[in-house]
Formats: sequence, C-alpha cells, structure tokens
Amino acid sequence: MDADTGRATAGRTTGEAPGGVSGGVSAGGEDHQRLLEEAMAAALALPARGRSADYIPALACADPGAFGMALATVDGGLYGVGEWRRPFSIQSVSKLFTLALALAEGGDSLWQRVGREPSGNPFNSLVQLESEQGIPRNPFINAGALVATDRLLELTGDAAGAVRDFLRAESGNPDITTDDSVAASEARHGHRNAALAHFIASYGNLRNPVDSVLAHYYAHCAISASCADLALVGRFLARHGLRADGSRLLTRSEAKRVNAVLLTCGTYDAAGDFAYRVGLPGKSGVGGGILTVIPGRGALCVWSPGLDRAGNSVLGVAALDALTTATGWSIF
Ligand code: DON
Repeated sequence: MDADTGRATAGRTTGEAPGGVSGGVSAGGEDHQRLLEEAMAAALALPARGRSADYIPALACADPGAFGMALATVDGGLYGVGEWRRPFSIQSVSKLFTLALALAEGGDSLWQRVGREPSGNPFNSLVQLESEQGIPRNPFINAGALVATDRLLELTGDAAGAVRDFLRAESGNPDITTDDSVAASEARHGHRNAALAHFIASYGNLRNPVDSVLAHYYAHCAISASCADLALVGRFLARHGLRADGSRLLTRSEAKRVNAVLLTCGTYDAAGDFAYRVGLPGKSGVGGGILTVIPGRGALCVWSPGLDRAGNSVLGVAALDALTTATGWSIF
C-alpha cells in the first residue's frame, strides 16, 4: 500500500461500468483517488460537525471530526482517504446485511412481517407499531431490523454470526468481529429497543425469545469494520447480487429491490434529503458510517461520527454530496 495516498490497489476502471450508471465522469485509478481527496476536502471545509451518538455511552467519546472514505469498484479497485482503514462501530449499516441475508436464506416471505415504506419517523420510534399491528414500516428502522434479525435467527440459528461471516468473506478481512463492550453498552441502555421488541412480540411477529433477538441485534450492530471493509462488502449490491467469489447471494431482481428500499428508507426520515443530495441507495449508522451503492460501478463507504438530528453522519453526507455532484454518479 502507498502510505502517502493510502491507495491499496491501482484502479482498473476504464470507462462506463457494466450495467452502467450513465453520464458524469468516467474515472480511472488516479481520478478515483483524486475524487475522494476532493470530496474529503469539501466535507472538512464545512464548519458543521454534528454530535456523536451519546445514547450509546460506548460511542459517545468518538471525535465528530474524524473522517475516512473508501471506494471499491466492481472490477477490483480499492481507494481510500483519511482514516479509511480504521474500524468503527457499523451500527445500523448492519441492517442492510441482515436484510440481504434474510432474503437470500428465506425469500420473500419476510415481506409479510415487515413493510417497505419510509416511516417518516425517527429510526427508534414506537408510534406506528400499534396502529400498524406490530408490522414495522420497513427493515431499516429499529423495529423492522428486529423482525429481520428474528427471521435470520430463525433461518440460521446465529443471526449475528451470519452477518459477521458474510462481512469477513466479502471483505477478505478475517478480523471483523463484534465489539462486545459496545454491544453490552447498548444492551444496558436499550430500553427503547426492548420496548419495540416486546411490542412486536405481543402481536406475534417474533418467532424467537425477545432476549435472543435483542442479543443478536446488538451483536450485529456492534460489529467493527472499516470503510475499506464495508466498501468491499457493498459491492454485492453494485454487482446486482453477485458475491466476491462470483456466487449469487441475491437475484438481480432482489438486488434491485434491496437497493430501492435502501434509497427510500436507508437514511430514515432524511431519506428524501439524502436522495436529493446524494442520489444513491445508502445505509447509515449512528457510529457515523454510511455505505452507498453505485449500481454497476462500485460501493462507497464514508465514516465520520458527528451526526445530524436524523442520526446520519454530517461530514459523511457532505462528502457523498460533493463526490456525486462532481462525478454525476447517481441512479438518477
Ligand atoms: O438500535 C440502535 O439504536 C442502534 N444499535 C442502531 C441505530 C442506528 O445506527 C441508526 N442509524 N443511523
């Protein structure tokens, strides 16, 4: 790896990617690196930093100004800037993998137990669950992710282990694991998630004991991984469902659907603004990570722990906004 640029692999992209995103810059390796550097500079020039997530005490001390960003292209290029190799708590970014694995293992029946509409409410809100009979609006708010975790637990016997193993396989990093101190911190302060889980269970929409579902949910949220790791993992959605080894996790149609739910629900009640500014399917987490998919081209992961009111990284969204505006990389 080049210590100065942080580049791990020379880019090999020569133009429009397969299955392409039309318009904008057709970047080669040097361009990819430069584009990331410019996006980072644009974000760091902003005065706003947001606040790290203090409702999970183990995350509260993170520096809101820390920053990393990585791009993994479908043809094997990997580029990064800032602290792109530093592991952070992936939190709700894990919900994307829980959903994909639950669909891959168990098919469409999941959609009888969770919707796919934006909620327009904060990610940890309880208000819709009663009027909607314990069927969460979508799999990315906490309520919906608890149902997806329950489904994956039902299908595999180890939901958090399935997510961890998937991340290890796709990133090639065998060290990815749950940070037990973060999981324990969240469990100790998890009254809201426990309330959601019990409420869902009261409607018969959990198949496993509430405590097991919560333990697996906290364990997959508390996985630590870097921007480089997550960008490499996110490629399966850029490759329309194909895993790193060429095997298929999701059908092309399923991958399209997961990307659609990411776009409409992946950043919660800020999904409209995220689509407006960034124009890519993406999943955020309160650890400050955002993983976005550029279909046919690659996956981008940005990390900066300062959050806005919706729980999305302030500098992360700003960097993605700058990059997609400069390149035209967007699904629109
Ligand atoms: O359940 C929670 O509150 C956290 N484990 C995850 C929330 C989260 O990351 C929301 N995303 N921005």
